[in-house]
Amino acid sequence: MDGNGRWAKKRGLPRKFGHREGAKAFKKIADHCMKLGIPYATFYAFSTENQKRPKDEVEALLRLFDEYLDDIREMDAKNVRLKFIGDLSFFPDSTHKKMLEAEEATGNNTGFTCSLALNYGGRDEILHAVKRLVTEGCNLSALNEESFAEYLYTKGLPDVDLIIRTAGERRLSNFLIWQAAYAEYVYTDTLFPDFGKRELDKALAEFGERNRRFGGV
Ligand code: FPP
Repeated sequence: MDGNGRWAKKRGLPRKFGHREGAKAFKKIADHCMKLGIPYATFYAFSTENQKRPKDEVEALLRLFDEYLDDIREMDAKNVRLKFIGDLSFFPDSTHKKMLEAEEATGNNTGFTCSLALNYGGRDEILHAVKRLVTEGCNLSALNEESFAEYLYTKGLPDVDLIIRTAGERRLSNFLIWQAAYAEYVYTDTLFPDFGKRELDKALAEFGERNRRFGGV
């Protein structure tokens, strides 16, 4: 969800105003995914690297996540299953607790699985999985790609089909690097706060035209 900062700068506003608009766009896009019958979507809202941003910007983002978590009943009523992926121990205890409660409260919902990548990094995720495997004494001969994926934050989520990146950036930026091995990429110059339903429809149409071979012929 890139481009919040530039969206605010263009209007002479502090970056946190861009994030607030980004949060509104996120909610609209999540609703649209649900209406389109998309079963899973993951939103990259805060990377492990984003911790290095100025304190007031990080605090503003944490407030947005907290406000969102206070509204879980609305998501539950929409039959949304929420999932949080990343090293959640970074967050204040009260926020972390709300995340776990939200996952628990919406765990049996069947409408749409909305995952939020928070303090997420693909390398961190793989390292975390390897450490757990070693600590738990894994049976190396039985380890395969499928069983390894069970140790990732995304356990239970399918591989990625499509990654959409906004604001003209053409990098992966440590996002789902294991899960996106055969993902298709769609890039748009639109800044995330301006990314709406029509933009999503357009990206999905582009995806629909791709010929996916998964390494075959
Ligand atoms: C990167 O663009 C964006 C972020 C670091 C934050 C993304 C967060 C949101 C959209 C809010 C999500 C809210 C909820 C409730 C899940 P940038 O700000 O670095 O933009 P720039 O590249 O233009 O500076």
